[in-house]
Amino acid sequence: MHVLITGGAGFIGSHLVDRHLTARDKVHVVDDLSTGFQSNVAAHLSNPHFRFTQADIVTWADLNEAVTWADRIYHLAAVVGVFRVLERPIDVLATNIAGCERLLRAVDHCGWRPEVLLASSSEVYGPRTDPCLREDMDLIIQPEAPPRWNYAISKLADEAFALSYARTKDIPVTVVRLFNTVGPRQTGRYGMVVPRFVSQAVAGEPLTVFGDGAQSRSFTDVRDTVQMLDQLAGCASTDGLIVNVGGNHEISINELAERAIERADSMSPVEHLPYEVAYGQEYVDISHRCPDLTRLHGLIEYLPQWTLDATLDDLIARVRHREGAS
Ligand SMILES: NC(=O)c1ccc[n+]([C@@H]2O[C@H](COP(=O)([O-])OP(=O)(O)OC[C@H]3O[C@@H](n4cnc5c(N)ncnc54)[C@H](O)[C@@H]3O)[C@@H](O)[C@H]2O)c1
Repeated sequence: MHVLITGGAGFIGSHLVDRHLTARDKVHVVDDLSTGFQSNVAAHLSNPHFRFTQADIVTWADLNEAVTWADRIYHLAAVVGVFRVLERPIDVLATNIAGCERLLRAVDHCGWRPEVLLASSSEVYGPRTDPCLREDMDLIIQPEAPPRWNYAISKLADEAFALSYARTKDIPVTVVRLFNTVGPRQTGRYGMVVPRFVSQAVAGEPLTVFGDGAQSRSFTDVRDTVQMLDQLAGCASTDGLIVNVGGNHEISINELAERAIERADSMSPVEHLPYEVAYGQEYVDISHRCPDLTRLHGLIEYLPQWTLDATLDDLIARVRHREGAS
């Protein structure tokens, strides 16, 4: 199979690269390296089945050719991370919406129909406070949205494009709403909590919890996520569907901090930082976010293999190994 991965040098994308090259597929990655790293795919650069292009998906001259070559496309390229979204509220909208529309238009014009999997986000559920979030729920958009919601708005626009191309142009697109994904190669630089806590716990530094820490999230290991994405992309009955992808074991951010400290056998204290200090501006957080996975489990049989403790242990070991080597 020929697989095109936009944003394939990023955290999730690079695990998809590993998976498809292991299956002896041919993989082409396009990534502008704005938040991704070439080192994430460095192990494959000499593999004749792998091709890497550094380019912006919004302007990439060879997009049509790459789309025509592909049997399957994962569209992951996007401006992501709370810090970047708050710093670049216009880029988030412009890049995420234009990139997605340009890609879908190229697929429509390429003469045939590769499978497309579009990465959306649980952020589209906005400030909903339901215990479990279902794909067919009405979504809440705050009319005078602060920049924090621009990411959700961009992903919602992408979803609307994807469903419209699926319905009117017969493009086999699956939209996945990813919930918090964690694991190797995720960087804490743009506000992601797990890599930040792990580094702080290993270094014996205070773990900085933003807000009061009572907010809860459910985490999935990226190695489970990519198995689910691969199965969903290959499943014909997902065409034109939105599917939540994640785990449903909620944990508060305070408990997560304690768990990271315990697993790292660390003496780090926990410090709470008000959102205004953490993000440099007013910030609206969500009290909890947990997916309803009925649709996902009706479509694929895969069950996640990684517990949160196993992921934390693995990340802690990797940080220690890296520090020991430097
Ligand atoms: N990690 C999560 O928990 C999570 C949750 C919800 C949704 N998602 C979505 O999954 C996708 C992958 O996220 P990730 O966590 O791997 O983040 P990431 O930042 O590691 O990956 C995004 C990749 O896209 C690249 N990119 C950004 N703009 C680009 C452009 N204009 N042209 C080409 N490449 C560009 C970046 O360099 C990066 O490699 C994103 O679409 C994100 O919105 C992730």
